[in-house]
Amino acid sequence: TARPRVLSGIQPTADSFHLGNYLGALREWVTLQREFDAFYCVVDLHAITVAQDPAELRRRTRVSAAQLLALGIDPDRSALFVQSHVPEHAQLSWVLECLTGFGEAGRMTQFKDKSTRQDADHVSVGLFTYPILQAADILVYQANAVPVGEDQRQHLELTRNLAQRFNARFGSTFTLPEPKIPQETAKIFDLQDPTAKMSKSVPAGVVELMEDPKRSAKKIRSAVTDNEREIRYDPEAKAGVSNLLVIYSALTGRAVSELEAEYAGRGYGDLKKDLGEVVVEFVTPFQDQVRGYLDDPAELDKILGKGAEKARSVAAETLRSVYDRIGF
Ligand code: ADP
Ligand code: NA
Repeated sequence: TARPRVLSGIQPTADSFHLGNYLGALREWVTLQREFDAFYCVVDLHAITVAQDPAELRRRTRVSAAQLLALGIDPDRSALFVQSHVPEHAQLSWVLECLTGFGEAGRMTQFKDKSTRQDADHVSVGLFTYPILQAADILVYQANAVPVGEDQRQHLELTRNLAQRFNARFGSTFTLPEPKIPQETAKIFDLQDPTAKMSKSVPAGVVELMEDPKRSAKKIRSAVTDNEREIRYDPEAKAGVSNLLVIYSALTGRAVSELEAEYAGRGYGDLKKDLGEVVVEFVTPFQDQVRGYLDDPAELDKILGKGAEKARSVAAETLRSVYDRIGF
């Protein structure tokens, strides 16, 4: 009766998730709990690869966990935990680092992208090796599946290579994780520049789930569209309108074609106003729930403690056999 296992993590690097995080990743987490034995973690170890503030990190870790709960992660079904509460991640990571070639790590394109955006003296070795920590995050739970976007494919390949290398050298130990192509995720674009991905690094065009809902509605009303009048899904020619339709469809469960029909002959102003209301209706109860978790720190600690306990019971078993096989 064992369900296949899935692992995913998200960094606590902001005070709020945004609509892109939700529709592009977290919504899928909620769905996957039905079919999978899910392990979901707030990856605070990954958050210190770049400069960070301790009080902010602590706050953001809790806000992230509270948001995951409010979005529908069920702690009775899934293990919801904080990565640093399970020391086996870092322990396995060291073992895997010793199996990774320097050149092999250097070929990770995400590192090249991220490191070139920063002053070379401030690029940490942790940022360089974080894909190996990611491999440990996955392998320590013997995960069968990992939901991955395009930008993470190379890291999952590294994870599989490291698992195979360990298994070949020391005996079968790790499950080889398969990429899980997300079923119902959408790429969400920036409201002010609908050719760019919605991202927390560009505040003007992002809908933050924790911001004042009125502000979100206003951002949607001032979203960049085009000079035509037609409400039609055409991501090439009408990126802004298409983005609004995708968000609308995802939040209401109504097909884009149905929305096109409903808005035929109507103006962009109507679409934006209505979508603003849809967003307000979604985030208002969500924010109430998040506040409920944040106002009851003992309850949140209890949930995260239980999640870490479940996670550790699996992770410790994996680490025991790893240590045994390598001669510790
Ligand atoms: P950001 O791009 O704002 O820094 P992260 O890189 O922390 O967000 O992404 C966390 C998760 O959310 C990842 O799974 C990522 O693929 C997803 N995600 C982020 N932005 C978007 C977006 N605009 N559309 C769809 N998914 C997104
Ligand atoms: Na990012």
